[in-house]
Amino acid sequence: MKVAVTGSKGQLGTEVTAELKRRGFEIAEIDLPQVDITNEAEVRDCFLKASPDAVIHLAAYTAVDRAEEEKDFCYAVNVTGTEHIARICGELDIPVLFTSTDYVFDGSGTDFFETGSRIAPCNYYGQTKALAEDVIKKYCKKFFIVRISWVFGPHGKNFVFTMLNLAKTKDEISVVCDQKGSPTYAPDVAVLIADMIVSEKYGTYHATNEGVCSWAEFAREIMKLSGSNAIIKDIPSAVYPTAAVRPLNSRLSKASLDKAGFERLPDWKNALERFFRN
Ligand SMILES: NC(=O)c1ccc[n+]([C@@H]2O[C@H](COP(=O)([O-])OP(=O)(O)OC[C@H]3O[C@@H](n4cnc5c(N)ncnc54)[C@H](OP(=O)(O)O)[C@@H]3O)[C@@H](O)[C@H]2O)c1
Repeated sequence: MKVAVTGSKGQLGTEVTAELKRRGFEIAEIDLPQVDITNEAEVRDCFLKASPDAVIHLAAYTAVDRAEEEKDFCYAVNVTGTEHIARICGELDIPVLFTSTDYVFDGSGTDFFETGSRIAPCNYYGQTKALAEDVIKKYCKKFFIVRISWVFGPHGKNFVFTMLNLAKTKDEISVVCDQKGSPTYAPDVAVLIADMIVSEKYGTYHATNEGVCSWAEFAREIMKLSGSNAIIKDIPSAVYPTAAVRPLNSRLSKASLDKAGFERLPDWKNALERFFRN
């Protein structure tokens, strides 16, 4: 089986391609600078040459704060780029798996968001990912939409590396304590994604690691496991303004995983331990 992976060099793409290789899949990597998904001719040419049996679409504009300023750029990659991928997958009638985000929800309340909860994005990046979900549904019959959040792993920029870098020079680090959600360990969700793409259990899923924490609790665990003495100081979001609004509640229900018979990801603390061990 040949799987095309867009965004294959990104944080998650690196793990997904590694997992697919471990399982003996043939892989067509689609990423900048060779292929720009905003260019439909380049996408079509690449699909024609690669002739994949399935697509894992991870390429995205992911600079959440900058997106508030660079709206056209963000839209071009996340919506128009996804439309190019979705149209060709629909035409070829091949399955596509698309990763989306907790930011498609408004972050209100303390309940877990179900896959069918009301879409009301809290920032521009979230708006583009919600529109991209619609595009996938419009053009493809065989789709997986997998919403994840707070991704960390050994490759790319993420919160764990940010905290470790800050801890090198600071004795005390202020971290928001009123945004609650679940980290997603890239190698863990890569295993699930590889399981999904060979199944025919199409649909929308939430797939973070188990357990809920605040960013401050996440940071404290990072300090503990890394052996750092830096103190994590709890601060409310109100004193840490960002260009893009972040949801206070990012709890995502995994009922759809259970229903389809997919295994939930391990607890986030267990994932963080493995991150440091490896
Ligand atoms: N990171 C998170 O916390 C998080 C949370 C929820 C959902 N997600 C979703 O998960 C997916 C993977 O995220 P990630 O953290 O792995 O992101 P990432 O590290 O930023 O990787 C995205 C990849 O897409 C590539 N790309 C960007 N624009 C492109 C274009 N026009 N044509 C082709 N490739 C392009 C990037 O290349 P360059 O680096 O050269 O730009 C990069 O290799 C995305 O769909 C993202 O929206 C991520």
